[in-house]
Amino acid sequence: MPISPPRCRKIVAATIAMLSIHHQLDQAFRAAIGAAFGLDADPMVGLSQNEKFGDYQSNVAMGLAKIVSDKTGQKTNPRQIAEQIKSHLKLDKIADEITIAGPGFINVKLNSNWLTAQLQQIANDDRLGIPPTTDKQTVVIDYSGPNIAKQMHVGHLRSTIIGDAISRVIEFQGNNVIRQNHIGDWGTQFGMLIAELSGNGSAQIADLEVFYRSAKKHFDDDTDFQNKSRELVVMLQSGDSQIRSAWQQIVEETRRHYQPIYRQLGVLLQTSDERGESFYNGKLADVVNELLKKEIAQKSEGAVVVFVDGRDKSPLIIQKSDGGYLYGTTDLAAIRYRINELHANRIIYTHDSRQAQHFSQVFRTADKASWTRHGEVKLEYAPFGTMLGEDGKPFKSRSGDTIKLIDLLNEAETRALKVVTEKNPELSEEKRNEIAKSIGIGGIKYADLSKDRISDYVFSFDKMLALDGNTAPYLQYAYARIRSIFRKANSEDISKTSLKLESPFELALAKHILRLGEIVDLIARELKPHHLCTYLYELASKFSGFYENCPVLQSEATVRASRLLLCDLTARTMALGLDLLGIEHPEQM
Ligand code: ARG
Repeated sequence: MPISPPRCRKIVAATIAMLSIHHQLDQAFRAAIGAAFGLDADPMVGLSQNEKFGDYQSNVAMGLAKIVSDKTGQKTNPRQIAEQIKSHLKLDKIADEITIAGPGFINVKLNSNWLTAQLQQIANDDRLGIPPTTDKQTVVIDYSGPNIAKQMHVGHLRSTIIGDAISRVIEFQGNNVIRQNHIGDWGTQFGMLIAELSGNGSAQIADLEVFYRSAKKHFDDDTDFQNKSRELVVMLQSGDSQIRSAWQQIVEETRRHYQPIYRQLGVLLQTSDERGESFYNGKLADVVNELLKKEIAQKSEGAVVVFVDGRDKSPLIIQKSDGGYLYGTTDLAAIRYRINELHANRIIYTHDSRQAQHFSQVFRTADKASWTRHGEVKLEYAPFGTMLGEDGKPFKSRSGDTIKLIDLLNEAETRALKVVTEKNPELSEEKRNEIAKSIGIGGIKYADLSKDRISDYVFSFDKMLALDGNTAPYLQYAYARIRSIFRKANSEDISKTSLKLESPFELALAKHILRLGEIVDLIARELKPHHLCTYLYELASKFSGFYENCPVLQSEATVRASRLLLCDLTARTMALGLDLLGIEHPEQM
């Protein structure tokens, strides 16, 4: 079952335009800095490094000392600056205590009543108090991009998973997200594939890998086949209808191969998001002409190139001497299309870090051509590292072949079924299968998303399906466990409950719940979903701390209701977070 995008059910109360704690502190510090020094500076508010000192801290005093000294001509030091900021800070209701530590860190301890009121405000809000952005943008996200007549490989898997999570987060912020699947469906290899198809009949395509290899072998061994292939490419590119339909057949066959993977993964990519390389075919000549006319590109040894890194470095080639276009030409056409026709404010690419040089050259060429209107449209590359096997080498099957992704996903589900059956033998087979799908696929996705994307990561079924540690099953289990409390509580109505938070465990959990909005903004900025994984993992452990120390169902009525509401808020935060990662959360496990 594909996961639906995070829904915005009918908002119960009018949308709560609540500012996050971070935002409110940011404003208060800015105002204080303004009042003290007449300056507008980023107060650098973050979580306190040490909870002993407070909940949030500002590190601005260190940098500000020099600026203020220069401005006034009087020597000052960070601690004095911190003192002055503190004396102007208006945090009456928000803070219990403001202290200065070390060289000049300003620590804020939040007031419990204020925190309780903040949490109460979001209790009936489906967005958990995270307001939609007031600066709505059109964000194009380019991810997945498998190649025609080839198996999708693990690099495409990472791209698909990471791109999907990023697109969900940015969409949740209230932006207009346009997903683009830039499939590799054009280029000279099609001559060879069509020649193979016409020589051997379509039955051969069923196994794409075999089909591709056999075409390649014919091409390498047989000059007649080579000549025929070249002719076919020309015919395809000039629009010959018969050749075009053979091409279409190969594209569709490949789609039949990757669509089930998308469906099983539960990603939001649709066939209608496909804008493959072929889509830009008719626009390539014009791109080259425009770049020549603007004197950004030039002729060099018969080819057309852009010397992006200077004349002594390898250029971006946009047209070969035989007139053919390349990967980079298509990407330039795609950028122009995305800016001019899709009206993108931001274009994000989540692809393998080995394409860094390519995207860097393409982006700078687009900048030179002023398509990005001097940086007004942001081109962003969010690269990721290589997926490794447990031996630390690039991920391969035992026989050394590339792994068929569908087999990988199926294996995850099979292994997850064993885990579920051990844990919960009394559930029906149907239920166990359903849960195993959520855990298996969730496990694969989470293992990928929870690491800083830039590093390589080791793929291990045992680790990703473990019920403890920073894994999907651990979080899914935490969610299901909270839901089970409600089954025991016999569906009490807690919608009108007043929160009463007293224990430090309750307060720590409340503070954490209120931080989700910060995390969403952080991911949208840095394009790193692992921040959300870390956040959810901490949510689960703060919940455990609370649950072990604060009885819920056994408590006296008002405390019980308040704690049930806190449980509910935790579960909803977990569910929303997992939704944003594209990970299912069964009610029972
Ligand atoms: N087909 C490419 C590959 O397999 C990925 C496409 C990336 N997107 C892009 N706009 N170039 O490496």
